[in-house]
This record gives sequence, structure tokens and C-alpha cells, in this order.
Amino acid sequence: MTNDNFIVTPWEVVGDVNYDVLMERFGTQKIDPSILDRVSKHTGELHFMLRRGIFYSHRDFDRILNAYEKKDEFVLYTGRGPSGNTHLGHLMPWIFTKYIQDKYDAKLLFQLTDDEKFLFNRNLTQHDTRKYAYENILDIIAVGFNPKKTEIFLDTDYIKTLYEIALDVSKRITLSTAKAVFGFNNSTNIGRIFFTSIQSVPAFLESKRQQKSIPCLIPCAIDQDPHFRVTRDVASALNYPKPALIHCKFFPSLTGSDKMSASKSNTSIFTTDSPKIAEKKIMNAITGGRKTVKKQRKNGGNPSECSIYQYYYYLFEDKDEKVIMLSEDCKDGKIICGECKQILAEKVKKFLVKHQEKREKAKDVVDQFMCKD
Ligand code: TRP
Repeated sequence: MTNDNFIVTPWEVVGDVNYDVLMERFGTQKIDPSILDRVSKHTGELHFMLRRGIFYSHRDFDRILNAYEKKDEFVLYTGRGPSGNTHLGHLMPWIFTKYIQDKYDAKLLFQLTDDEKFLFNRNLTQHDTRKYAYENILDIIAVGFNPKKTEIFLDTDYIKTLYEIALDVSKRITLSTAKAVFGFNNSTNIGRIFFTSIQSVPAFLESKRQQKSIPCLIPCAIDQDPHFRVTRDVASALNYPKPALIHCKFFPSLTGSDKMSASKSNTSIFTTDSPKIAEKKIMNAITGGRKTVKKQRKNGGNPSECSIYQYYYYLFEDKDEKVIMLSEDCKDGKIICGECKQILAEKVKKFLVKHQEKREKAKDVVDQFMCKD
């Protein structure tokens, strides 16, 4: 029996997500071997997030590949809701987006929805969300996007440009659609109801600028799919191509399987955490190990329920042989949690030191990336 007792919306994830069930619920397609073959051919190497099915679902990704094979331009679009500092989980889809940008030489539009986070978080002021946005931008730049091919914008700093398309979109979405797709009700503030029109805009922006049909590919976590279902539904009425999507799973938290949340500071590692703090968080994480070393040696651990193993799998070990070996050694009781945590901590610390250097340097080039009215 499949467990479908969970909820995923763009603003909430409750319960244990079954990703295949979610794909069916949302009506998306699985990324199949034929797509992987094509991407392999185009890129020379499949990203480990594709090999491992971390990016696992899509809508019309094959059409983007068709366009590429015909040498047609396409644009990438992704985003970030600035509700707090950036944690490692946020970097995962951005790192993947950079891979696509580099391999396909595509332009990227990066939206920061400070308006969204203001409207959807009771505790955040407009000042807060703008402040977080500018912090997050440093992390985005630090990921290494091509400065010549990347435009980053904050909704509130670019609204004059965004508004025209947002109006076009909003005129074609009814309240009953918004209720059905997002679960809004009579006590939902009206800003939230309008907001999805703003998230649609970047999908159409390049077509509007160039006055011709430019296909758009949106890499995002699967929880964002409801927005883009609406975007796709209104596209043809507005004479724009439907954006294509490629969806990833959620990055796990240090307590186990849940989506890593920015609000629980001890269960996430932030990009601004000192290496020492990061190490401490890792050493305190929940694993799939046994209660005692003796039991672990005898019975082995359970990597599939281990947050440390997930960290290797999702971000910190790109060599498949090594991930497999780690899993086998764990199950055989050859490696115990203390060691496994320590090795990860070293990798994470190294990563953080480098990332924080790039983050500092990013401060000097923010203006080169930003689009403002
Ligand atoms: N709504 C997203 C969030 O809360 C931010 C976002 C805006 C986004 N546009 C996007 C994410 C496009 C992925 C792709 O994080």
C-alpha cells in the first residue's frame, strides 16, 4: 500500500512525502531514461542529481531539449523566497541550475519574492524580507552563475517592469482557481491571492522583451509546481509558450526526512554558520545508527533513515561508488556514526570556508547581477 497521507503546497510540507504519489497528484512526468540519454549527449556528463533521481520529475523538459537541438534559445528561470538566511538545502537546486546554465549556455532569470514572504509570514516586515533578499543574493552569486548571462531581481525593486505581465496573468485567474490550487479561504489576505501572478512573470519576461517566443525552463523544488500549473494554464491565452519545469525533491533536515526548514536553526546548516557551529550541528544530528557501538558493529545501521547519509547523497558526495560503499559499510557495521559524521563535518567545513570567501567577494559585484527599474 502506498502512503499518501501527506500535504505539499508551496508554503507547507506536512508528513512523509511520497514523491511518486506526489507526481501523480500534480500530474507531472517522471524523468525517464530517454531524457537522461539526451541530456548525457548534450552535456557529456549527467549531473549526479539527475543520476540519483534528486531531480526526478518534469513538465515538457523534452520540448526544451528539442529547442536546444534545433539551436533555438531558451531561458532558465528560478527563484528564492527570502524568508531567512540561506541554508545548504537552498543551494541544491541552484547548483543544479548552474550546471544547466553552463552546459546549455542559457540565460538565467533569478527572482527574489520578498513580497511573497512578507504576505505569507505573519512575523516578517517588508524591511526584513528585503534585508534577507540582499543576504540571499550573496549566496546566489557565490554559487557561480555566469555574470554575463544572469539577471537577479527583487520583486519590490523591479515591480514596474513585472507589473504589466502580472496584470495580464491576474486577469485570467479566477478566485475559484486560486482556492482550488492553493487552498485559500475567506480569511486569506488578498495580497496572497494576487501573488501567484507575480511568480508567473519571469516565465514570460524574455518572450516579452524579445517580442518572440522564447521557451523557458524552470528548475525548482516540486512544491512550487502549483504556481506554474497556473502559469502554464494562462500562457496560450497571453500568446506565450508554456514554461517547462524540472522538479527536485526536498533536501533533508538533520533530524531525518523532512524538508529542511529555515525556521528551525539547529536542524539546518546555514551558509553563514561558522565551520565550528556546522560541525556541532552535524555531530548532534539524528542518524540511522544503533544505540551502542557494539550493536552497530553487529547489526549495522540504516542509511535510508539517516540524515548524515542523506547529506552525502544529496550534496556532499558526487561519486556514486563512494555513496554506495558508504551505504554498504554502514549496513555491514563497518563504519560507525561518529566516524561518518566526522568525515562529513570535514567536507562541510571545507565547503563553507570556500563558499564564505566567494560570498564576501560577491559583495563587490552585486550591481552587475541586479536588475532594477
Ligand atoms: N516561491 C519561491 C519560494 O518561496 C520563490 C520562487 C519564485 C521560485 N519564483 C521561483 C522558486 C521559481 C523556484 C522557481 O521559495
